[in-house]
Amino acid sequence: MANNIETKKKKIVSGMRPTGKLHLGHYLGVIENWVKLQNEYDCYFFVADWHALTTKYDKTEDLRQNTLEVVLDWVSCGIDPNRSTIYVQSLIPETAELNIYLGMVTPQNWVERDPTLKDMVKILKTKEGTNSQISYGLMGYPVLMSADIMTFNASIVPVGKDQVAHLEITRDIARRFNHIYQTEFFNEPVPKLTQVPLLCGLDGNKMGKSLNNDIKISDDEQTTAKKIMQAITDPSRIRRDDLGHPDNCEVAFKYWQIFGDSDTIKIVESECKKGERGCADCKRQLGTVINERLAPIREKRHYYENHIEEIEQIIEAGTNKARVEAQKTLKEVRKIIKIY
Ligand code: TRP
Ligand code: SF4
Repeated sequence: MANNIETKKKKIVSGMRPTGKLHLGHYLGVIENWVKLQNEYDCYFFVADWHALTTKYDKTEDLRQNTLEVVLDWVSCGIDPNRSTIYVQSLIPETAELNIYLGMVTPQNWVERDPTLKDMVKILKTKEGTNSQISYGLMGYPVLMSADIMTFNASIVPVGKDQVAHLEITRDIARRFNHIYQTEFFNEPVPKLTQVPLLCGLDGNKMGKSLNNDIKISDDEQTTAKKIMQAITDPSRIRRDDLGHPDNCEVAFKYWQIFGDSDTIKIVESECKKGERGCADCKRQLGTVINERLAPIREKRHYYENHIEEIEQIIEAGTNKARVEAQKTLKEVRKIIKIY
């Protein structure tokens, strides 16, 4: 009976490129969402190391460590290896095989039209000093992503807005495959957009590690508190008793709205407006609130940092489980294609 319920759960697949230690934007924008989805769905979360190679094929020295860091952050944030399948993309050769079949049925102009891919190409070409060769592998980005998803015949893919264009191609590929081989085997997976408001960086730009405006999940309390003190506030305030405008407090008050409870937010807002709250004190208090929220996550991370072999075991077990499913799919796909 339990098994029955298990198989009825819809499948979710989502991945993240191994960029190293994750920041609060990842946590609130993506991981927290994944954590919630674990109850309702049969989830597959993987580190997209092949996708990292599409642009950084010549910078591989940190790949293994970055992969471990990502999984460390996931598990510390509450991705539960007993409920979700956590694996590394490159350990599932079945996805590479499916990538070949899907590549055959994907018209070249579909990938050439992909606006997100076009943006990636544009950025690569303008980056000086780097190898600006656009590889065949990069052009296959959305096809490989489709293979990730279709390896498990998932129906839902939680992603950010920027990934939706790739997923449209996935649906087109699934439909085309089904049409060409006269089957209904593949689902047409739909994106599930994150509802959480985007967390901006300390300087008001998008939070990112290259901009040096991020707070890492792995940062310690002191570092976090210090970083919060750099957060942008209402620029019109000079003295402590100047009347403040929380709406113009571009970063600090936005963080309050995300991390504070509703009563505290009201107090901050009214004290700020009346000039009864200095920005430095305000941000000191904000730092404490954020640190409290992150404390249990950091404690868990600290444990796993010192037991990295447990993270490796989680990856191994997840990969084994994922491969069993992947092999089932590929067996069926080979039969549908009628390949030897
Ligand atoms: N392209 C995604 C990103 O950069 C990562 C990714 C790779 C992915 N394969 C996927 C996400 C499959 C969802 C499903 O964020
Ligand atoms: Fe922002 Fe707080 Fe300063 Fe008001 S007091 S401007 S909310 S940092």
